[in-house]
Amino acid sequence: MNSNESTRPAFAPRRITVVGCGYLGAVHAAAMAEIGHDVVGFDVDEAKVALLSQGRTPFYEPELDELLERTLATGRLRFTTSYEEAASGAEVLFLCVGTPQAPGSNAADLKYVWSAVDNLGPLLDHPCLVVGKSTVPVGTAEHVRDRLHEIAPAGEQVRLAWNPEFLREGFAVKDTLTPDRLVVGVERPEDEQELASLYAPVLDHGMPWVVVDLATAQLVKNAANAFLATKISFINAMAELCEATGADVVALADAIGYDARIGRRFLQAGLGFGGGCLPKDIRGFMARAEELRVDEALHFLRDVDDINRRRRRRAVEMTHELLGGAVTGAHVAVLGAAFKPDSDDIRDSPALDVASTLHERGARVFVHDPKALDNARRTRPQLTYCDTALEACKDADVVLHLTEWREYRDIDPAELAAIVASPRILDARNALDAPAWIGAGWTFKALGRPRVAG
Ligand code: UDX
Repeated sequence: MNSNESTRPAFAPRRITVVGCGYLGAVHAAAMAEIGHDVVGFDVDEAKVALLSQGRTPFYEPELDELLERTLATGRLRFTTSYEEAASGAEVLFLCVGTPQAPGSNAADLKYVWSAVDNLGPLLDHPCLVVGKSTVPVGTAEHVRDRLHEIAPAGEQVRLAWNPEFLREGFAVKDTLTPDRLVVGVERPEDEQELASLYAPVLDHGMPWVVVDLATAQLVKNAANAFLATKISFINAMAELCEATGADVVALADAIGYDARIGRRFLQAGLGFGGGCLPKDIRGFMARAEELRVDEALHFLRDVDDINRRRRRRAVEMTHELLGGAVTGAHVAVLGAAFKPDSDDIRDSPALDVASTLHERGARVFVHDPKALDNARRTRPQLTYCDTALEACKDADVVLHLTEWREYRDIDPAELAAIVASPRILDARNALDAPAWIGAGWTFKALGRPRVAG
């Protein structure tokens, strides 16, 4: 079924609807308009649709504003809250709704998937291809297909494919227009052809086009995220060993990373992973394995999750150590609130978790982040927020580097030493130049590097 490059169909512009305009959908809608399609972005959130219609993004994502502005100006992109407009004339509908963790459970909450299917299905009175992009428990695609066949007036002429998305926040535009591979799960060769034609301008960049069945397509995404999470937790488990033995996790990661079979990427030891994807996706994957009675196969992901949470606790402990136990009333400066740099996303942010725990223990916590302050303020109003890193650090008893934004690496340690109450820092992301900080008089601690100490 896998068409090779020479037999791939030519590009033909389509009427596309993108259902759900979050990080995934907003970028996908603009990217599809950029490559020449006529796109309707649908979302139930009126405020979000109003913003996007004006070319403004409801979240921070590098390059997205420019892309939106450019594609809106072509007339090939518009946004709507109307299901009728979303369904009418759509040849291809991409499902890009969120699949968050269900409250009180590890499983994914599929309410947005079913809401989209149940509201759009009855309006699909013409042949079309529905393409799932959301991360779902394996088996969901088949249910979506059956439900659409049942409720759509066009019945089985509504086909279903699955096309998992691997974009990283902060690189979403680049990852969508030039991904490192495109994976499609299809049931008929015609659907593969349709998608190959739709994606032709992207495929022209020469990335692999991987054609699989529906179950594999859904599993590919689960497996990719599980592997990435495991890689991060592996190096963080090594950090625990380093802390117990006096070894250095950064040198260790470099040394094993030179082995091409291992590779250095995603071996950045530190505070661990957060965000809207990896944590909830590994939990959802475990929950699905349990339903399928193969939970033993994914037992290790429980450890992956535990190791990840332990790093946050260790960062709190090390802050206690740096303060000589005197946490109550201490001025703690926190650099970084987003779950990772180049993002304003604070979902399951390790940085905010550590900041909140220290606040609960009586510290006065002053947080800076270049982009995520508004989001952080909304969810953790108990913390104090500062517009500049210097403001957060003024008179600090300890500085915590919790999200590795570029601007923090550019801080002059001597300049910062002059304004804090006591020059003590925890580099929880192993991203600062330790000798420079120690040279400027700082007591310097880092996760997994017990001998790096000022
Ligand atoms: C991730 C996947 O990379 C992406 O393919 C998928 O589509 C969605 O989930 P994202 O959540 O944007 O993307 O972030 P990513 O860059 O993968 O980082 C995830 C977390 O891991 C961050 O909190 C980051 O700080 C942390 N991380 C990453 C590490 O702690 N160490 C590393 O070596 C790499």
